[in-house]
Amino acid sequence: MATELFPMLDPDYIDNPEPYWQQLREKAPLYWSEEFNFWVVTRYEDVDNFAKRPEDFSSSSGPGGGLRADNTSAEDVVGFLPMIQNDPPEHTRLRSIFSKSFTSRRIAQLESEIRELAAQLMADLQSKSSAGKAVDLYKDFASPLPVAVIAKLLGIPLDYYDRLKFWNEALGIGAGESYTEKQRFNATTEMNDTLYEIIEEKRFNPADDLISSLVKLADEDGGQLKPNELLGFSKLLWIAGNETTTNLITNAAVVLQEQPEIIEKLQNDKTLVPQFVEEALRYVGPVNGLFRRVTRDLEYKGKKFKKNDNVWIMFASANRDERHFESPESFILERSPNDHLSLGKGVHFCMGAALARLEAQIAFECLVDVLPGFQLKPEEGLHIPVPVLRGWLKLPMIRKK
Ligand code: HEM
Repeated sequence: MATELFPMLDPDYIDNPEPYWQQLREKAPLYWSEEFNFWVVTRYEDVDNFAKRPEDFSSSSGPGGGLRADNTSAEDVVGFLPMIQNDPPEHTRLRSIFSKSFTSRRIAQLESEIRELAAQLMADLQSKSSAGKAVDLYKDFASPLPVAVIAKLLGIPLDYYDRLKFWNEALGIGAGESYTEKQRFNATTEMNDTLYEIIEEKRFNPADDLISSLVKLADEDGGQLKPNELLGFSKLLWIAGNETTTNLITNAAVVLQEQPEIIEKLQNDKTLVPQFVEEALRYVGPVNGLFRRVTRDLEYKGKKFKKNDNVWIMFASANRDERHFESPESFILERSPNDHLSLGKGVHFCMGAALARLEAQIAFECLVDVLPGFQLKPEEGLHIPVPVLRGWLKLPMIRKK
């Protein structure tokens, strides 16, 4: 191991960060990285604590804030995202408005359509493979499913589907490889313009979808919700809800392949799928960690945090903390309680948690029957090259003989 306890750019770390996190939890749970200029927080107790103190640890720099060398606020390719980059009281105001439209009823209503979408994608994947064509779990199932679900949720018409795919690819985390900064910027502009058009259209022709409901709220509440906040929220759902759910599906599929005894249990009893999804969130959660920025000079457990220091709170390391979980290195289907931090904690707790869980449960109800007939090829796959996330951008699968 390198002398730097957090060698974020070493191939060894990128391939397998867990031993490094384990060493940090043991030796330096509140670690200041001289090389990267940020704190790395790895124990459950501290991650949980920091996430619950927005007054001291602000979200204003954005989820990946500390990774930007120039330390600017998050005015990057996608621009400012309301709510996830706001602290209370602004955050409270926005979350309470958005919650009136993004309700559990609306999510529950999507269930049958998600089932149809998943079944259709899976049938297409199988016929493609039967026709001798290459198939990929990321490209043919795990990525298009959440894209279609969010389009449905927001009320984006199907005619836009090609554009949706383009935005997803260009704005996606792995886009660095295939799109220039200019193309990504253009995709953002185009997405903004199109969402704006759709919002205007819904004003005159409302339907039973999230954008129509927000437009109605914005019109009714006397201007509390500004047009750019409505647009920003639609964009946030797009960005926060697509790649994360995709990653959960691909990460958990690899676990299933490595531990076939779990597939068997799930095939025999599909009511265990929600528990499987929960343990997969803990064990191979899609978000390694997110950034906060210190709002004032403060001392915590003997360490001095300075105003404007960046702090990386490592949800994925907290989820493997032996001080909190029994046998954290084992995937235990029956684990209970399972209070993992993969969906965050405190005021920013994932607003799409119920939808993410529903999508993943439906996906795995399909996958447990299909996966045993295929071999996933992670060795020919491609990991997301961004340290805040864990997932795949390519995960080929071949039919077993
Ligand atoms: C497995 C999939 C998902 C994971 C692992 C995940 C993870 C997270 C995490 C860790 C946060 C906390 C951010 C923070 O503390 O700064 C968060 C926030 C959020 N997520 Fe998710 N998410 C997932 C799916 C979704 C979906 C499907 C949606 C919506 C369609 C969504 C919408 C949001 C929103 C709007 C926030 C911001 C909440 C706030 O700032 O109050 N997420 N998510």
